[in-house]
Amino acid sequence: MPLLAFETSCDETSAAIIHNGRILSNVVSSQIQIHAEYGGVVPELAAREHLRNFLPVTRAALAEAHIDVGQIDAVAATQGPGLPSALMVGLKAGQAMAFALRARFVGVHHHEAHLYSPWIAGNPPAAEFSQFEPNVSLIVSGGHTMLVHVESLLKHRVLGWTVDDAAGECFDKAGKLLGHPYPAGPAIDRLAEQGNPRAYDFPRPMVNEPHDDFSFSGLKTSIRYFLRDHPSLLDDRKAVSDLCASIQAAIVDVLVSKTMRAAKRLRVGCVTASGGVTCNRSLRKQFADACERERIYMRLADKNLCTDNAAMIGILAEQKLAAGVKDNDSEQEILPNWELA
Ligand code: KG4
Ligand code: ZN
Repeated sequence: MPLLAFETSCDETSAAIIHNGRILSNVVSSQIQIHAEYGGVVPELAAREHLRNFLPVTRAALAEAHIDVGQIDAVAATQGPGLPSALMVGLKAGQAMAFALRARFVGVHHHEAHLYSPWIAGNPPAAEFSQFEPNVSLIVSGGHTMLVHVESLLKHRVLGWTVDDAAGECFDKAGKLLGHPYPAGPAIDRLAEQGNPRAYDFPRPMVNEPHDDFSFSGLKTSIRYFLRDHPSLLDDRKAVSDLCASIQAAIVDVLVSKTMRAAKRLRVGCVTASGGVTCNRSLRKQFADACERERIYMRLADKNLCTDNAAMIGILAEQKLAAGVKDNDSEQEILPNWELA
């Protein structure tokens, strides 16, 4: 029986229909345009947009999957972490739907769902858990940067996370200094294409430290000071490309080398990555090269599943129900600061 999943933890309103590991539909309405003029996500606006989008997105997901709402026998929604007012829309609306449909309900941890999105592939997309291998998983987006050891399906341990800014935030803030609107990651990716990544030498924070934590605020500061001291560079197109390529190289080097190092230390033969920054072409290339060199199996989330989506929430919820996880009752509340164990 099909499962209806919701994701509303930040600025994407998404609904998906999942059946036996297959994604029958995955509708995502992004609010990027709305928040761009404020330079970042405004929580109150995000919640209002989720309320406005919730039913149209749900109707579209049902229609695309050719499923009648009466056929739904389980509902899942992101319970945390995320923006409180945004989480509340998906969780409470999801619980209400489950109540009305007499369906089971599962609240899902957003980051735990990211861990399994690299295993979704194919056309039509489906979870390829028959190919699952124990792995080190990098979750890297505008809100989070963390490394997780996924020992088996549904069993994981966090190795490290960012002590300050997320890697996506560093892309966004560096881009802002270069005059690009939020989110600036894709613009840096594009401009870096023609640039020389070795033109400017930016720090690789914590790259050689023995733990698995990340830090990106120092890099952001060094970019700010560099631009303060060389303001005329911004008028030179070649210099801007070189600058973008060099900033990107500093971020990507840290992410790839710390992920590979953790995989080797833990003797796992697989690395995975998900989250918005996984769309970055240089990150994908550097991962591919490093994994080929080290003969490690690599799974990067499909580009349209890197960013937040309900399909990954539903895929994890289905696994949890199959594993006998008790469905939650409708009394469950949002957990905005829920930490992955
Ligand atoms: O996963 P996501 O949509 O949202 C959360 O933050 O949860 O990730 C958005 C982040 C933004 O910081 C954006 O700049 C970054 O992902 N991003 C990229 C690229 N595409 C998106 N960063 C670098 N290169 C890209 N191609
Ligand atoms: Zn996310």
